[in-house]
Amino acid sequence: MSSPSAQPQTIETRLKACAEEVAQKLERLLSDDPRGAEQYRPPRLLAAMRHGVLNGGKRIRPFLMIETAKLLSYEHPGVLRAACALECVHSYSLIHDDLPAMDDDDLRRGKPTVHVAFDEATAILAGDSLLTIAFDIMADEKTHYKAEVRAELVRGLAQNAGIGGMAGGQCLDIASEGKSITEGEIRQLEQMKTGALLRFACEAGAMLAEASPKERAAVTRFGTIIGLAFQLADDLLDVTATSAQLGKTAGKDQKAEKATLVSLHGIEATRAELKTLIEEAESLLAPFGHRAATLAATARFIAERKS
Ligand code: IPE
Ligand code: IPE
Ligand code: MG
Ligand code: MG
Ligand code: MG
Repeated sequence: MSSPSAQPQTIETRLKACAEEVAQKLERLLSDDPRGAEQYRPPRLLAAMRHGVLNGGKRIRPFLMIETAKLLSYEHPGVLRAACALECVHSYSLIHDDLPAMDDDDLRRGKPTVHVAFDEATAILAGDSLLTIAFDIMADEKTHYKAEVRAELVRGLAQNAGIGGMAGGQCLDIASEGKSITEGEIRQLEQMKTGALLRFACEAGAMLAEASPKERAAVTRFGTIIGLAFQLADDLLDVTATSAQLGKTAGKDQKAEKATLVSLHGIEATRAELKTLIEEAESLLAPFGHRAATLAATARFIAERKS
């Protein structure tokens, strides 16, 4: 807790504090000991999972979930668990995104990718196991006291991660390589491959808080907008930043002939759209007043981030 005389924290400081909490919790969830019906955690697989998830990500999705729940007056240790479940799904998506059959990347979060540090089969299995442990964490009664809320979280995570969300979007992304697809198709694939999990981060905050339908609709719409903004910023950074700044290989999209809004409209038009999206996101938070200051700052951070 901050004292009344403390300086207001910057969004970067708050994100860093959240990232530390998330990492500590993930450390415990990914310890050597099997849980429940698990028989044994093979050390090499566990090490690959830990390499993929305990490696300095920005933890923006957990932060959004925790801050959305907080905005809706819900603070409980279960929120951190749900946030870690989502980060496991996100990290799995990155491990698989980097595989030779997909984007074939050897650098992630400033380190060798999981298939480089281990091997391809282990990277596939580490992704599988991060995806499945996410549902274990979410369904646990420590995550929320109401079974209906846990079921809603599990279902929401499944739908946003699967065929109609992230995995479906990744399929469209790979299929679009080297092809000219329409602007509408590009928007759809970006909303799915990246937007879905960011939107879910916000909606899950409302689920945990058992918010009113009106509040839930507002934060979910906010999540949809920043989800698209996040991928626009990622596509811009691929063109404008260096691999050292990003901790992942820059300039890959053009090389792989990926269909992005940057490749279609150029850098300036994409920057302008990003600005409009952030203004729209901020206006959605206006009814919450100053209590939404952190989420508004997160939206700006997403647009202005350098990594
Ligand atoms: C990168 O996500 C992949 C996309 C969905 C665009 P992040 O930029 O959130 O990556 P980390 O988690 O901070 O490494
Ligand atoms: C990946 O998009 C989105 C995911 C579902 C992982 P990118 O392929 O652009 O992500 P980076 O640039 O490799 O992080
Ligand atoms: Mg990709
Ligand atoms: Mg990639
Ligand atoms: Mg990218």
